Amino acid sequence: MPRSLDALVLAGKRVLLRADLNVPMKDGAVADTTRLDRLAPTVREICDKGAAAVVLSHFGRPRGERVAALSLRLLVEPLSRALGGRAVAFAENCIGPVAEKAAGALRPGEVLLLENLRFHAGEEANDPGFAKALAALGDIYVNDAFSAAHRAHASTEGLAHFLPAAAGRSLEAELEALAGALKTPERPLAAIVGGAKVSTKLDLLGNLLRRVDMLAIGGAMANTFLHALGTDVGASLCEAGMAGTARAILADADAAGCEIVLPSDVVVAQALEAGAPAETVPVAAVPRDAMILDIGTGSANALAARLAACRTLVWNGPLGAFEVPPFDAATVKVAGAAAELTKAGSLRTVAGGGDTVAALAHAGVSHDFSYLSTAGGAFLEWLEGKTLPGVAALDG
Ligand code: 3PG
Repeated sequence: MPRSLDALVLAGKRVLLRADLNVPMKDGAVADTTRLDRLAPTVREICDKGAAAVVLSHFGRPRGERVAALSLRLLVEPLSRALGGRAVAFAENCIGPVAEKAAGALRPGEVLLLENLRFHAGEEANDPGFAKALAALGDIYVNDAFSAAHRAHASTEGLAHFLPAAAGRSLEAELEALAGALKTPERPLAAIVGGAKVSTKLDLLGNLLRRVDMLAIGGAMANTFLHALGTDVGASLCEAGMAGTARAILADADAAGCEIVLPSDVVVAQALEAGAPAETVPVAAVPRDAMILDIGTGSANALAARLAACRTLVWNGPLGAFEVPPFDAATVKVAGAAAELTKAGSLRTVAGGGDTVAALAHAGVSHDFSYLSTAGGAFLEWLEGKTLPGVAALDG
């Protein structure tokens, strides 16, 4: 585990706090404040311990250009609200005289947000000169942005080489939750992996099948596996060219003692449209002109029942086209079952990555899982077993 905040003396210091304020926006407002809410305890702790917090973040992908629509000024108010109304100052640049003056003016307990790091090409290039210019603004570096830890950028990796570094409370909590799910899990350990393409999740499947006892595959990915096993999947989304790879994954799972669970029945329709006439059929009876858009009721019930015998679940990716009812049914059903088991204390549930958080929110279980990661790419890379540069940089 990376060094904790407890290992550093904060009083009287200026702390450069890497946050992930790359939040979803809708009509100029923050659409989901989870990342801000999870950052708040670290900011408060820094301030309460007599230090000043200089908050660093990227926002969108401006690729080294100043893009007005991606100014972090938009996040000043939302951050202040997440901090219970604490004032947040803003500097129009994240390095140089403007940033230095604003940081230099901070008193203990005050918070400053700097402009978007990615307005400078040096951020993504992990340019040591840029990291040094950031380091000049503070005494200590704290990273609380797990969701950006898969990037080896100046603010997520480079800075740790210039200043005493530690993990923030939310990054720490994330690592603890993830370690509890894959490194030191209570068994049986199950994984549910959904999503559209096998080709984007090869590393993930390869890592999981060596670690979990049961791996349930849903979403359009399951179609590729069914096709690889000789099932006619009709007009379904399917990566026919990945059939050999899918068979190799099944053989690897077998050798590793991991049971792969594929759907035995599926929901099919002629079109991916809300309320489209749909029917549930065995996988062996998918009509030629129909598309598989969800796993069937029988498969969903069987999966829910299997989870009752498990102690840990890792979930990435929806089981069907959940955005378009009625193809959300299996995801809602299985998510509900996992949530009930979590509440009853028999299952530890960790989920994250891309659509997963939206799918679980749609199922109404966001608050009932043991841990919901707000990370997309970082969660996936962690599931792939990769070392995250932003976490590795904090070690020792
Ligand atoms: C995220 O939102 O997943 C992180 O902030 C990383 O953003 P990026 O994919 O633009 O690096």
